[in-house]
Amino acid sequence: MKKAIITSALPYANGEIHLGHVASTYLPADITTRFLKLSGTEAYYICASDDYGTPILIQAEKEKKTPEEYVKVWNKRDYDDFTAFGIGFDLFYRTSSSENIAFVQDVFKKLMENGHIYEQEIIQFYCKVDKKFLPDRYVIGRCPYCKAEEQYSDLCEKCGRVPQEIEEPKCSICKSPPTKEKTKHYFFKLTNFVNELNEWLAGDSYLQKDVKKYVQNWIKDGLVDWDITRDITWGVPIPLEAAKGQVFYGWFDNHLAYISSALKFLNDKGIDGKEFWNSADIYHFIGKDIVYHHYLFLPAMRLGIKKEYKLPDYIPTRGHLMLQSKKISKSRNWYIGLKDFLQIYPSDYLRFYLTLITPYSQDDLNFDWDEFAARINSELIGNIGNFVNRALGFTKKSTGGVVPSTDGLDSADTEAQDKIKNLVNEMTPLMEENNLDRALKKILEFSAYFNQYFQKKEPWKGGVGTNNCIFISVHAVRSIAIALYPFLPESSQRIWSQLNLAGNVSKQPWHSMSEIAIKSGHNLGEASPLFKKVESTDIQVHKSKLGQ
Ligand code: MF3
Ligand code: ZN
Repeated sequence: MKKAIITSALPYANGEIHLGHVASTYLPADITTRFLKLSGTEAYYICASDDYGTPILIQAEKEKKTPEEYVKVWNKRDYDDFTAFGIGFDLFYRTSSSENIAFVQDVFKKLMENGHIYEQEIIQFYCKVDKKFLPDRYVIGRCPYCKAEEQYSDLCEKCGRVPQEIEEPKCSICKSPPTKEKTKHYFFKLTNFVNELNEWLAGDSYLQKDVKKYVQNWIKDGLVDWDITRDITWGVPIPLEAAKGQVFYGWFDNHLAYISSALKFLNDKGIDGKEFWNSADIYHFIGKDIVYHHYLFLPAMRLGIKKEYKLPDYIPTRGHLMLQSKKISKSRNWYIGLKDFLQIYPSDYLRFYLTLITPYSQDDLNFDWDEFAARINSELIGNIGNFVNRALGFTKKSTGGVVPSTDGLDSADTEAQDKIKNLVNEMTPLMEENNLDRALKKILEFSAYFNQYFQKKEPWKGGVGTNNCIFISVHAVRSIAIALYPFLPESSQRIWSQLNLAGNVSKQPWHSMSEIAIKSGHNLGEASPLFKKVESTDIQVHKSKLGQ
């Protein structure tokens, strides 16, 4: 049996999931996992909250919570929101788990033994009032580039640049000017891996060509070693006597939680986790903002422990979602929370629309309220919903829901039947190549074809061939239910129930979408419309309510 582990970028436990997160990462990963499961692969979708880092510690302090309490709240909320969206994680764990802490410390020791870690004294801001070092967001000041005030030392939110040195630095807690103190930090020698990374990137793989190209250019421009130490209290403790009170940088430990969480899940199931990992296809779904970390830092760390855990086979990378053609920004309140959206429309509406607008590339995508309404109404409802309801509704009316037997197919019938038999061959390569938008469009084409077939056959006239038309159309509905499952799991199950077929649609083999498998005499269930139209008056209301 083929095996696969699918992960998607771990969300920071620091604020709600919004549409920008799910379009490029969680949804494509979920669709792929569901497809692999139907295809008979032993596939598991593993994710976790990303719990560490200075922004989380600062936010917890602001809310007068311990960081443990703070991340627990977001871990649960994220999981609930994802679940409401039909994201079917096999495990949603956390980077602050005891398993991950132990795993990270072990990896660090091995990297050290293998000569990939060194110590270096650095100068770091320090606050004498608060008696602590001030990494990253603990220091605010003026951006040296655009002169915006009150910016973080590690990121100017105004111009998006990372300042070399912030002007007029202040402690973000007490606002007093910090001093500079010496501290000893550990560095990961990314530069040790130039050759191996180049070989890996040049090798035969499923990595996207255009992404590989710019990663190769980064390597050409020169890599720098990574400071993996932070002088704060929230993080995985560095397991050395000399590093008391210091923790790892969040990007050292977070991606290791892909592995430690998978091991936890597999070992709990009684499966040898390491063996599974190394014999599985490994997928890490990400957005294009974290390419550097996943194409360089992550593989280098796995190489540094001698591939004890294999490198990824796929790192599907997609662009950013814009909202009404403008960049999404939480601080400027220009975003749509996933939870809010799902209180208005069913999860499958969003899954449908986002899949259609999200290609397998780095191109940015755009959420547009009016386009959302138009595509749901004309494509999901006008095409798929219409065909399913027409075919099943008509059968109910004309035969009481009993699937008739065929009798002497004409050429239109045979052509239609061939469409069914071919569907899986058309769908599978697209799904395997991660062209999920194109795969969904195939289903739309298929459904449009059958709308026409039904229309041309005019079964309501009750002429010769009516039974053939019913028989074949009911089968087309069955094919749609299976093919649609990875994309719209809830609606697909509702179609399955209306067909009154045994079992759950999630348990049907993928290739069976092309089978003529319903027996004559089978009784259909209740036929009722699957979807409700999106009203443009409502769209205006939602736009203004969300401040858009
Ligand atoms: N939390 C990070 C972000 O949102 C992503 C971490 S992905 C990981 O950018 F694998 F590295 F954990
Ligand atoms: Zn201070």
